[in-house]
Amino acid sequence: MPPTPPPPPPHGEPPAEAVKPLLRGILVVRALSDADGRASIGALVRTTGLARATLDRIVATLARMGYVRLTGHDAVLTPRLMELGNAYLSASRLPGRLGPLAERLADELDESVSLAVPDGDGIRFVHQSTRRRAMSLTFRIGDLLPAERTAPGPLIAAGWTGEEWERWRARRAADPEDRGFPAVPPRDDKAAHGVRTGHARRFEELAARAREDGWALDDQLIEPGLIALSVPLRTPTAPRAGEPVCVVSVVSHTSRHSAASLRETLLPRLRAAVAGMERELARPAAGPAAGEPAAGRLPGEGRRSGLASWTGASKQELGREFIESLARGLTVPTAFGEGRDALTLSAVAEATGLARATARRALITLEHLGHVTAAPDRTFRLTPRVLSLGYPALSRTTLPQIAAPHLAALAGRVQDSASLAVLVGDDVQYTARVATRRIMNVNITTGTRFPAYATSMGRVLLAALLDELPYDALVARLARAGPRPLTRHTVTAPAELAALLDGVRRAGYALVDEELEEGLRSIAVPVVDGTGTVVAALNVAMHTSRRDVGACLAEVLPELRATAARVEADLDVAGRFTRVPTV
Ligand code: PHB
Repeated sequence: MPPTPPPPPPHGEPPAEAVKPLLRGILVVRALSDADGRASIGALVRTTGLARATLDRIVATLARMGYVRLTGHDAVLTPRLMELGNAYLSASRLPGRLGPLAERLADELDESVSLAVPDGDGIRFVHQSTRRRAMSLTFRIGDLLPAERTAPGPLIAAGWTGEEWERWRARRAADPEDRGFPAVPPRDDKAAHGVRTGHARRFEELAARAREDGWALDDQLIEPGLIALSVPLRTPTAPRAGEPVCVVSVVSHTSRHSAASLRETLLPRLRAAVAGMERELARPAAGPAAGEPAAGRLPGEGRRSGLASWTGASKQELGREFIESLARGLTVPTAFGEGRDALTLSAVAEATGLARATARRALITLEHLGHVTAAPDRTFRLTPRVLSLGYPALSRTTLPQIAAPHLAALAGRVQDSASLAVLVGDDVQYTARVATRRIMNVNITTGTRFPAYATSMGRVLLAALLDELPYDALVARLARAGPRPLTRHTVTAPAELAALLDGVRRAGYALVDEELEEGLRSIAVPVVDGTGTVVAALNVAMHTSRRDVGACLAEVLPELRATAARVEADLDVAGRFTRVPTV
């Protein structure tokens, strides 16, 4: 049976000035997000209630923006969409400033640590430092949880007004199974562990107690075994009196702690860490934080500054299929960022290149959907709800997943196999591959390993070791690997190999001719992350009869480099606030 779609959020009627195509576009992105990032067009028609023709145009526009990819009958969210959530996360400063401290606390306690912020009557995660969580659910950045089933919840509810309690009760009545919270198992008030969540009175008591204590516990409210201890983080500039900026939680399992022992043993250390975090947030900003791209290098920047011509050209090319007002409205969140958390209409218009009237209507639309709030001083801020636009689904994307569509496009253009690999010991290990024809005696699949010294990807990855390793140490390492002649062309002398690797490092590519197998020619380039570290290699392999070396350099190398740049651009966006696994 298909899962029941969550109830629509209680937005009410949109204001007359709202941009309808933007409302619909966001509805589609939300539907894809709720389907964990992938859905067939047919399923989207059912869940959004939009006409097929409308949906096609929205998907075509999102695809043009690079936020969605079409594969067969499915629409798939792309890592680039994370630039919207990144804009909120940068503007909030929370993960950038506090993430390293949360990481340190997780190391110290050997337990998971998370940061959550209030969002309506729920809490939403903005950071996760995960440790040994194999036994229970792990939440992702952007996941929304019902406040009453979490430890941060009572601390947030401690500052609720009567109206907010009313809104919470109405939501509980309208959604008795928590269907609007796809990250948690359905609420079952009859289940043993759910007894505590069954009564509204109980949550009100917990909130009152949390106000007194300054901490709160989750004793298996979400699922059996999962326990958490939370402390609020306050600053003088908290959004509202009584409301914390965020809540810091230590998350454990009943196999390691009881709820009581969690509090007894870890509360003092959690409190000390939160005090340190409060000091960190109070520290004035010193330009872009480490790891932040400098202003003007933000992902999406290129498109934003030339927005008018970009949307115009897209309209020319796609005609009716391209919805300009959707494309324009969706760029508004990217105006926000580190040091740009509260923006006037003029600042938004200037940053996006939109006309004031266009920016204004987009902001009104986003405000209606709860993605933006307007302050009395006429500035606008992004809200954590922006993270509902695909962030949870995309925040676990791996490098091979990021690379896969780009490899397929590359293989299609050069009509030869394209692969991605990492260094594992002295071997290269394939992590993604798109094969066009069989050129080798062995069948290469993901996981296949070859000796690094005899392959183009291996040489690129070994050459990158020279960033850290002195030349002589590399020679010694190559000697230890014991290079063997795999064909009559294989270079095996460690000194000769090291000299080749030095050349590869300078040239930025490796071309290997028949050293792994007779008749096989391959060329590889590095894939570099935002910190300048080579995290993988990308290659094209072909039979020697397909192209001579000159043609390989003239035709394939530029394609390889362009592909690596696309993978790196996606990796930059995806890796801004999450660690992207390389395998
Ligand atoms: C989490 O970070 O996974 C977490 C935090 C608080 C809870 C439950 C889970 O109450």
